[in-house]
Amino acid sequence: MTQAHPSERTAAIMVIFGASGDLTRRKLMPALYNLERDGLLGHSLRIVGFARSPRTDGEFREEMRRAVESAAPADVFSENVWSRLADRLFYFTGDYENPATLDALRNYILNLGDASGAHRCLLYLALPPRVVESVLASMRECGFFPARQTAGHSAIMIEKPFGSDYTHAARLNCLLLDMFDESQIHRIDHYLAKDTIRNLLVFRFINAIFEPLWNRHYIDNVQITAAESLGVEGRGAYYEQAGIVRDMIQNHALQVLALIAMEPPVAGDVESLRDKRLEVFKSLAPVTADDFVFGQYRGYREEPNVHPCSSTPTYAALRLWINNWRWMGVPFYLRSGKRLPEKRTDVVVQFRRIPLCVLEENVCRQPMQPNTLVIRIQPEEGFRLYFATLLPGREDILGMADMEFRYASLHRRQSEAYERVILDALEGKPALFWRADGVEAAWRAVAPLIEVCPEDLADRFPNYAPGTWGPPEADALIRRDGRQWFNG
Ligand code: BG6
Repeated sequence: MTQAHPSERTAAIMVIFGASGDLTRRKLMPALYNLERDGLLGHSLRIVGFARSPRTDGEFREEMRRAVESAAPADVFSENVWSRLADRLFYFTGDYENPATLDALRNYILNLGDASGAHRCLLYLALPPRVVESVLASMRECGFFPARQTAGHSAIMIEKPFGSDYTHAARLNCLLLDMFDESQIHRIDHYLAKDTIRNLLVFRFINAIFEPLWNRHYIDNVQITAAESLGVEGRGAYYEQAGIVRDMIQNHALQVLALIAMEPPVAGDVESLRDKRLEVFKSLAPVTADDFVFGQYRGYREEPNVHPCSSTPTYAALRLWINNWRWMGVPFYLRSGKRLPEKRTDVVVQFRRIPLCVLEENVCRQPMQPNTLVIRIQPEEGFRLYFATLLPGREDILGMADMEFRYASLHRRQSEAYERVILDALEGKPALFWRADGVEAAWRAVAPLIEVCPEDLADRFPNYAPGTWGPPEADALIRRDGRQWFNG
């Protein structure tokens, strides 16, 4: 059988719900532009922006053009590429929670499909969780999809956070599974689509040298940091609902943890991989009050659309335990926050110290860091392994040396996560999306963090100065275990 050209596999009408939001401008449109530039979008693909604020097709195109121009360096923006994409952009105004509007949208899609020859439909819900639920309920009410969809037909993408807690996520899953097959539901976590995160599987399971060391016998602790120097950047209304746990921990940070901690999959298919990630979420010990610290950066309460007495955390540090044979007794420390000193995501694996130093006493007395592997997800993507070495010279002095690999040395352009997210959804590839049971298990794992009542929160809610590594209590959390955060 002949395989369809990659660009033909993307023939669809893609409807972006919430197209006036900043995600469409900052991420989705620049990603679509890059895919078009690389010849990966089929000619019959049509993209419809859908939102409440009225706009004409022309106004929408102009706005998206500005968004793409500001995302691409001036010398890279090509009029040619842009006009090919712009001709396929449309805008539909309306209230997406209203069944009558959805009915009108369905007719619009059918007409567009007849004119373009694209008969698949991909709905991208770039909406907050509460609105997602009411859109799905309205879709079901108006019979947006005449029958439960089967693979090859329509598909749906939902931005994270998927739901706002376990119960909500379970309700969303029920609604979705009423209308779609699991294979057509793409629950997005754009971290899964980052090249460096996809590489974690290769690093662990295609190399023979690391896996024998990857367990409680050799690893002392693992630290996952997802730090951002920016604040909430005009997203106060969203962030007040989300906070750091729903925005970063329940999804991005836990997915990284799962890839670091999972067992080897029994096969390379997507369900085998998802099964292993799920096992990690299920093995997480319940988080207790001693295991976490929240913080809020000074100035957060003055951000637009933030309550002046807000108790929404913008920082969290936590200690997690994975109760299985591989990891029993190895703490996984996670921290994430806004307005920290730098934008950096990394995984630090600290190995156990040697049991006994057999060199001369003066050598053994020198304080040494444990062997440490730093996996830098972003920026300056790469791996660095630290080990002890004898410094050259007459005296026996120990120092730390490192071996480093940088992705930049491969001279290949990294793909933007949203390019991959969109392309995989258009092509119907599910590997980089959450499965229903995974997302629910991750919510269960963070439940103690989102169920803390405000009075309890007041006690454990230090604020921190922007540009610092969070509240001092976060240092105390790890120091208490005789360890410290690895800051490079
Ligand atoms: C998003 C969060 O999912 O991830 C944002 O909503 C955060 O608050 C962003 O800034 C970070 O993504 P990246 O790819 O820039 O690390």
